[in-house]
Amino acid sequence: MGKTRIIETNEGIQNEVTVEMFDVFASKMRDKGWNGVDGMIASGIKGGDLLEVGPGPGYVGLELAKKIHPTSLTGCEISPAMLRFAEKNAAEYGISAHYVLGNCMSMPFKNESFDSVISNGSMHEWEDPILAFDEIYRVLRTSGRYCITDLCRDVSPMKKAMVYFSTQPKEMRPGLVSSLNAAYTVSEITELLRHSKLCDAVVTREFFGLCIAGQKE
Ligand SMILES: C[S@@+](CC[C@H](N)C(=O)[O-])C[C@H]1O[C@@H](n2cnc3c(N)ncnc32)[C@H](O)[C@@H]1O
Repeated sequence: MGKTRIIETNEGIQNEVTVEMFDVFASKMRDKGWNGVDGMIASGIKGGDLLEVGPGPGYVGLELAKKIHPTSLTGCEISPAMLRFAEKNAAEYGISAHYVLGNCMSMPFKNESFDSVISNGSMHEWEDPILAFDEIYRVLRTSGRYCITDLCRDVSPMKKAMVYFSTQPKEMRPGLVSSLNAAYTVSEITELLRHSKLCDAVVTREFFGLCIAGQKE
């Protein structure tokens, strides 16, 4: 039996200092190409109106936008401090993204507003993932695709150590440990999906985490 999940936060990343450090960390991940964008494209995410859930400083959606040139890029983010970084970064990329303050369990968008929904590294902070999955389904248009990637609690200790020692700046390492402890296992997330409107999703184990992908019928 593995360790039980330990909740990290239900409010996203709010602290200004942590947010600033997270921006440095996420930009380093972007520079190494460790942003999961190619996997999202391989899962079928393409142009049209794109929503990123929990964009943080925005690099994943912005890198994806550079490759697939969506009609629009919107982010739904619970932390005002993260939103400010995302807006600054989008301006530096020269991409006109629209970041909205909101909770993914009750998103401030009309039904069927988007062609694709993506999210990376955010799900382990969602208070009620089933509600968030149902919201993703609601805001997607018919035939729209989703791809949600996150850490996975049941990766091997060796892989956990690899992520730990490659995390820079070093001050981010305790946060990584608490995020790993808050992350779901593949079987936990498969069970949660079964009770949601994303029940047809395919869950795959990635090298360091997991990926939930599918299409709204
Ligand atoms: C670990 S960061 C990942 C940021 C970014 N997606 C990345 O891959 O670099 C998780 C982000 O999700 C946001 N978040 C957490 N819970 C949320 C919720 N319920 N609704 C919207 N955003 C949320 C956090 O504030 C934070 O910016």
